[in-house]
Amino acid sequence: MRQPQQDFIEITIMFFLINLMEILFTHKTMKQLNIKQILMIAALIILSGCNQEVNEDYMIKKENFGEQDGKEVFLISLVNNEGNVVKLTNYGATVVWLEVPDKNGEKDNITFGYETLEAYLNGDPYFGSVVGRYANRIADGKFTLDGKEYNLAINNPPNTLHGGPGGWHSRVWDTEIIENNDEVPIIRFSYLSPDMEEGYPGEVRAEVQYSWTDDNELIIEYKCTSDKKTVLNITNHAYFNLKGAGNGDILGHELMIAASKFTPVDENLIPTGELKPVEGTPFDFTSPHIIGERIDDDYDQLKLGRGYDHNFVLDNKTEPDAMVYEPESGRLIEMTTDQPGVQFYCGNFLDGLEKGHGGMVYAYRGGLCLETQHYPDSPNQPDFPSTVLEPGKPFESRTVYKFSVK
Ligand code: GAL
Repeated sequence: MRQPQQDFIEITIMFFLINLMEILFTHKTMKQLNIKQILMIAALIILSGCNQEVNEDYMIKKENFGEQDGKEVFLISLVNNEGNVVKLTNYGATVVWLEVPDKNGEKDNITFGYETLEAYLNGDPYFGSVVGRYANRIADGKFTLDGKEYNLAINNPPNTLHGGPGGWHSRVWDTEIIENNDEVPIIRFSYLSPDMEEGYPGEVRAEVQYSWTDDNELIIEYKCTSDKKTVLNITNHAYFNLKGAGNGDILGHELMIAASKFTPVDENLIPTGELKPVEGTPFDFTSPHIIGERIDDDYDQLKLGRGYDHNFVLDNKTEPDAMVYEPESGRLIEMTTDQPGVQFYCGNFLDGLEKGHGGMVYAYRGGLCLETQHYPDSPNQPDFPSTVLEPGKPFESRTVYKFSVK
């Protein structure tokens, strides 16, 4: 990331260097230097120190990605000091591309995405997008708040899914690029969701901030406020395949989730209300297991979910909360969150027809999601942690996905 002050520092250093050379060529000893020359040498030493603190190679590029709902859509590329790239768009506050090396240093994009805005508008709605106001399902698209029933848009009959058909994944967010010297830049997307949008009460201001650090951490911070009492559950729906997006399925990936319980579901994928211990079930990922190892077990929850598509009740006691490792590439994700749950979804509804970057086919079970969240259907489940958002009490949350190799 080039800063104007960096240019100034470099020009100043050049000036001092020229003077220094003059001193050296005239073979002056320290005693023969005048006060001006001594000050110049001191300033040179200090300035070269300052210059090293500036992020030399971090780059941000903001390009036009089209137009939707009368608003400009951008593609923003972040290249960290390691040369690893994350691309974002304000359409759906979406992660478009995430490129990190494997154990041999070979870089590849490991998240699902499309190359054009048009493809986003016509393709799978949830590749890398932010989902809200309510991530996952609300039973029968209904809930009651302070004695009043609210009816939501039904887009996954008989339920509402991911905030409804016009959820936040499909909105054009406002974009701000926040650059502070020596700090990793922040991309802030904000969206003002009108009162009764998709049937939800309250005008909600949502902010999602992304930062991509030199340690290959994608940090996602959420902040939402409402002017009326409402319900809220916001997450990011990125699909990962550590072999590279489009390189087959994720059944050989190894997964750890620090969750001693999960929320079993009914045939409509609505939680039954039970918090079931994972111990002795194919849902025990408290120590690492290959995803494909038990996925076809004769276990009712795997049948109801068509595989893994469940909310895990995080213990929230240790970090990371989840880990994904792919042995061939050596790539590793460590995921840490302050949320009480994570939806582990392994792409059971992908039909192998979607083509993304470079025409790569995103296969059935070709990607996995770790959607940090409150539990599905919480507005209808009095024993689940509350998802009620009250005016004057902002919802704030943070999730970090750290990428490395081992
Ligand atoms: C997941 C959800 C799945 C499916 C998917 C979108 O979050 O758990 O059941 O709806 O989103 O295709």
